[in-house]
Amino acid sequence: MMIPRYQSQDALDRRGSIGTLATIFGRFFRFLLPYWDKVLLVVLVGQANALIQLIPPLLSIRIIDEVFPQRNWTLGVYIVLASVGVELFGLYLGIVTGYIWEWLHMFVGYRIQFGFLRHLQKLPLSFLQSRPAGEHLLRATNDPEEISDLMVRTIPDLVVPFQTLAANVAIIAVIKPQLALLALGYVIPFATMQHLFIGWLRNRTKSLVAREQEHQGRFVELIHAFKTTRALNREATERRKLFTTWAREWRASWRAWWIEFFQGAALEHLAFLFSVVALPLLTIRWVIAQQMTPGEYVAAGWIIWRFVEPVEMIVQWFQETRLQLVQGERMLDTLDVKPDVEDDDHTETLPPTIDGRIRLENVSYAYPGGPPVLRNINLTIEPGQRLAVVGPSGAGKSTLLGLVCRFHRPTEGRVLLDGHDINHVRRSSLMRHVGVCLQDTLLLMGTIGENIWYGGIDPSREEIEGAARLAGIHDFVVDLPDGYDTMLGEDGNLSGGQEQRIGLARAIVRDPRVLLLDEVTTSLDPLLHREIGHSLRSVSRGRTVLMVSHSLLDIHDADLICVLNESGEMAQLGRHDELMAATGIYRQMWSDDQREAQA
Ligand SMILES: Nc1ncnc2c1ncn2[C@@H]1O[C@H](COP(=O)(O)OP(=O)(O)OP(=O)(O)O)[C@@H](O)[C@H]1O
Ligand SMILES: [Mg+2]
Repeated sequence: MMIPRYQSQDALDRRGSIGTLATIFGRFFRFLLPYWDKVLLVVLVGQANALIQLIPPLLSIRIIDEVFPQRNWTLGVYIVLASVGVELFGLYLGIVTGYIWEWLHMFVGYRIQFGFLRHLQKLPLSFLQSRPAGEHLLRATNDPEEISDLMVRTIPDLVVPFQTLAANVAIIAVIKPQLALLALGYVIPFATMQHLFIGWLRNRTKSLVAREQEHQGRFVELIHAFKTTRALNREATERRKLFTTWAREWRASWRAWWIEFFQGAALEHLAFLFSVVALPLLTIRWVIAQQMTPGEYVAAGWIIWRFVEPVEMIVQWFQETRLQLVQGERMLDTLDVKPDVEDDDHTETLPPTIDGRIRLENVSYAYPGGPPVLRNINLTIEPGQRLAVVGPSGAGKSTLLGLVCRFHRPTEGRVLLDGHDINHVRRSSLMRHVGVCLQDTLLLMGTIGENIWYGGIDPSREEIEGAARLAGIHDFVVDLPDGYDTMLGEDGNLSGGQEQRIGLARAIVRDPRVLLLDEVTTSLDPLLHREIGHSLRSVSRGRTVLMVSHSLLDIHDADLICVLNESGEMAQLGRHDELMAATGIYRQMWSDDQREAQA
């Protein structure tokens, strides 16, 4: 399959971490909005906690400067009780914040995930198919959780340390203005170092995320391909491929780890130099020179420790979020892809009953980034007619069918149903009139009955059985111990032909005016083939049918036969006898078929 090119954006190159954070907040803020009261509560509680934490150091000043010199036992006890109260209060506030945080994290994550899935479901099939399933899976399962975590955590983890920092600087400034200046002397080299490290980490992180995605893609592929790998005895090869991607991910992760390690070590040393060397030397000097009381000396040491703590929290925030920022970018990358046909713009609704006239006007189509697959097709299928599309493999037959059920939007021209451009019609109203059975029927987890009635509401047994009878699967189903209630697995536990007939029953169960059939008889044995041929003729009666088939025997009695050539042009159009009378691909195909049948 050709891989169409969808440009992925490397926005992280253009924006810094803070810019990316702002973009992510901007884009995902609406998911947080319904919980604004809880967010506010978390911020306020965090703030209160930060302020309360300043009380114990202040109390320690009084212990050393008043309780000891005055030998005031009662004051000492009061101060201890007050400290206990403050610490306990802080502890409980922490528990409450943790609870609200968890709650927010879960609900915001769920909202982002469902918003993302809704978007994903509207994207062009060609885009969805152009990326490995593992990539979509990561973006839909892992990333929403991470973004929710990022948004919810950023508030307490980034806002509160800054507040604590400011409060600490203010208090130090009151005790000793010179100390506050010293503190700034710490923050500035700290911020510079941090900035450098984040720059180095950014590229590493991007490559780590890319490797992780590659690895996940391989993983999903391996799980999908169990059957094929077993058939070809290629288990070891698959494991080796997986090992290669794992090793790449591991290397990327290891490189990032080293930078983080040096970042942590450098910043720790800076903090150490500041709080264990510079600060005590200065303050001891001030106490000796009687510019500071011993109580203030102890309090200053305490506050400085509390000062280093929020700074470290900020570093930690950057380390923990660097992955999440890239994951956020990655989700935005998919969110920026425009839905193919934006349903909401099209309010046209088809009437409850239609005639079923299909017209293709100058229809051309190319998959994104690929060469044209169909060129300038003009066709009319009158209500109740049966049109067959034939042509070599890869000619664009399935694509043509996909245009009629709006899997793709024509790059040129229009597809009309009863004169309505189907791209301007609500999808739900269009699909009520169109039944589709694809080349590869996908069965879903559920019972056979549910699979036939898939997507409908309030299934009636008679309708399901009627459709199953027409599709020639009823007798098989009733012989199963659980009949229509037999559960099917994701991968089905039926033969290809049985799956195909369930797919056919699904297409006709809602009695559509238009029926689109893609190679429905391909995987059937000759006996069933003939039987379904009969069924097909009876289900086709009174419906407009567009069918693709390789078997010319199936379609020779169609009202119209459209022959596509290798370059996706309509080479011939007419009835079987007309096409046989003319020289062209059709007659050639027919005689090839005959020769094969005789051989
Ligand atoms: N999702 C896709 N993205 C890009 N190219 C595609 C995609 N699906 C099909 N193609 C290309 O479009 C062309 C037509 O494919 P299509 O499936 O319509 O052929 P077909 O006539 O139905 O073939 P077959 O008889 O084998 O089913 C092929 O060249 C194929 O490689
Ligand atoms: Mg096909």
